[in-house]
Amino acid sequence: MKTRSWAEPFKIKVVEPLRMTTRAERERAISAAGFNTFLLRSEDVYIDLLTDSGTSAMSDRQWAGMMLGDEAYAGSANYYHLEDAVHRFYGYKHLIPTHQGRGAEHLLSRLLIEPGDVVPGNMYFTTTRAHQELAGARFVDVIRDEAHDPADPSPFKGNIDLAKLSTLIDRVGAERIPYLCLQCCVNMAGGQPVSLANVREVHAICRSHGIPVMLDATRAVENAYFIQQREPGQAGRSIEEILREICSYTDGCTNSAKKDCLVNIGGFLCLNDDAVAEEARNMVVLFEGLHTYGGLAGRDMEAMAIGIAESVQQDHIRARIGQVEYLGELLQRAGVPIVRPIGGHGIFVDAARFLPHIPREQFPAQALTAALYVDSGVRAMERGAISCGRDPDTDENIYPPLELIRLTIPRRVYTQAHMDVTAESVIALHEHPERVVGVRFTHEPRYLRFFQARFEPLEGQGVLRDVALADAGQEG
Ligand code: F0G
Repeated sequence: MKTRSWAEPFKIKVVEPLRMTTRAERERAISAAGFNTFLLRSEDVYIDLLTDSGTSAMSDRQWAGMMLGDEAYAGSANYYHLEDAVHRFYGYKHLIPTHQGRGAEHLLSRLLIEPGDVVPGNMYFTTTRAHQELAGARFVDVIRDEAHDPADPSPFKGNIDLAKLSTLIDRVGAERIPYLCLQCCVNMAGGQPVSLANVREVHAICRSHGIPVMLDATRAVENAYFIQQREPGQAGRSIEEILREICSYTDGCTNSAKKDCLVNIGGFLCLNDDAVAEEARNMVVLFEGLHTYGGLAGRDMEAMAIGIAESVQQDHIRARIGQVEYLGELLQRAGVPIVRPIGGHGIFVDAARFLPHIPREQFPAQALTAALYVDSGVRAMERGAISCGRDPDTDENIYPPLELIRLTIPRRVYTQAHMDVTAESVIALHEHPERVVGVRFTHEPRYLRFFQARFEPLEGQGVLRDVALADAGQEG
């Protein structure tokens, strides 16, 4: 029997009008933003694929939950609802709410890291590594090699390389490793999942050396979906069951609830160890707020509790990933080089292959995000050398193997027609890649430079030349 199409398991009750701009307006806007899409005003953006973080649409139930906010300084009812949801779906013993994911990363890094320590993980994430380094540790990437190859079709490219992990433990000694950071649906690799088998094996190795495993559970629900779809023997299980099993092999987690948990703000730290949790509750008061609100309003915690329960529903997750796959397949069919297999939260375009005429020192991914915006008002994000930053020892730019732009899909926000319009713009640029001009820094911030850096195109006519000029340039 022919399988039928999926459709969104919701209908639209409230709409937010979008503003269309002219190309001249967009050229002015991107120039004023220093050719950095993070510095654009959102009112100048047509389809916003900058991030899936805090950009989801909440359900009517979540909005109703907002009205039930118990805005008590201490012991809010909503904290206990959130605690129940986290216990039920993630299964950890202690919950410490934080204002967002990096709040939890800050606490965890300060709690467990001593200067000179080494933290292994499956590819860096920007804020996670920054907090590890601020606490005095060095991050060591132990992801499998195929994660660095955009064309490798392996189903679990987020997996940790067990040999790399064991070698590292032998080399630096388990006592120098405060914890291993295991990320689900590895963001910088293109949203690539880890397999349940890999999580189990990592747990076994770390346990034999007394090293705790800390999960970055930010996209663990999406990861559970890929396990259900791709891992032998997992097809009959629910997302809820798989999520619980992933978490059961770890000693705690940090979580940015702004992604899978379907809220606009919020995060949490979970710990199973009573003594560490006691210290975390002490520390959260200094940096976030009392341990029963952690920088959040009661209503935010209520929305999060409801969002967590919605996030594991099969219809939801199937439509969510289905939409990402829809966009990816449109691009793939047109020959646009994208990271394969299609990951969880967005489509990652291989900017180095897309723009072979722009050398890495001229930041092809940064240039492509700016050119895409000029072409159609679609806002994407650079995920390459600018995001990776400088080597802390040599201060040289790091050029990671992956030089990508990310078209990140917010959850429950855009329609299939928005995906069509986005694909048409990317495909049009791909037909004449020589139109895109490389960029150089005019301002480089010290921390997480990609957020606030400014650039200029290397040629006077902007970051996207028109076709006639590009042809003339090629001839000349
Ligand atoms: N971990 C991962 C894997 C993330 O993707 C993010 C955020 C964080 C931690 C930090 O969480 O933003 O709530 O403080 N990622 C966003 C993104 C910024 O666009 O990918 P946060």
